[in-house]
Amino acid sequence: MVLLAQVSSTAYPGIDGFLGTRGSLMLDVVFLAMFAVVPVLLLSVYLVRYRRLFKLHKRLQLGTGIVLLIAVVAFEIDMRFITHEWELRAEPSPFFDVDNRWGCPAGISLIVHLLFAVPTLLLWIYVNVQAVRGFPSPPQPAPHSYSHLIWGRAAGVGMLMTAFTGWIFYYLAFIAS
Ligand code: HEM
Repeated sequence: MVLLAQVSSTAYPGIDGFLGTRGSLMLDVVFLAMFAVVPVLLLSVYLVRYRRLFKLHKRLQLGTGIVLLIAVVAFEIDMRFITHEWELRAEPSPFFDVDNRWGCPAGISLIVHLLFAVPTLLLWIYVNVQAVRGFPSPPQPAPHSYSHLIWGRAAGVGMLMTAFTGWIFYYLAFIAS
C-alpha cells in the first residue's frame, strides 16, 4: 500500500480514485458503495414490511452491515496513513477555503455528514446485534419487534442521510472546480 502510494503519479499524496474526480481511491469506493447500500436498504425494508420475508431481510441487513464495516476500516486506513489530508484534494474547489476550513461550505458539509455518519454507524451495529439477540432464528415477529421498528427506522433514516450528506460533501470538495 505504502509503495503504491509513493508511486502515485499525480500531485496529491495517496492513490487516486477511478471516477475522474479529485477523490482518492477509497473516497471513490465509499462514494459509489453508498449508491448500492441505499437501494439494498430500501429493498430490504420493503421485503420485510410488505412481503414478510424476514430471513432475506436479516441476510441483507447483516450483509450490508459487514460490507460497511470493512469499507469504514479501509477508509480510515486510507485517510490516516495514505491520503493523509483530504484538504489537499479539496483545494481547487471554490467551496473550500484552506484558511477557513470548518467555516467554508465544504467544511460545513463534512461536519453535517459526520454528525449523521458517526451515530448511524453505532446505531447500525446496535440494531443488528439487538436483532440477532432478540429475534428467533429463523427470524419472525417477536416481543423485540417494537424496539426494532423504532431503532431500525432511525438507523435506516440515518443511513439515507449519511449517504445524501456524503455525496454533497464529495461534490463540494472533490468535483466542483
Ligand atoms: C441495521 C440493520 C437493520 C435495520 C436498519 C432494520 C430495519 C427494519 C425496519 C425499518 C423494519 C420495519 C419495517 C416496517 O415498517 O414494517 C424491520 C423489521 C424487521 N426486522 Fe429489521 N433491520 C435491521 C436488521 C435486522 C436483523 C439483523 C434482523 C434479524 C435478526 C431483523 C429482523 C426483522 C424482523 C423480524 C422484522 C419484522 C418485525 C415485525 O414486523 O414484527 N432486522 N427492520
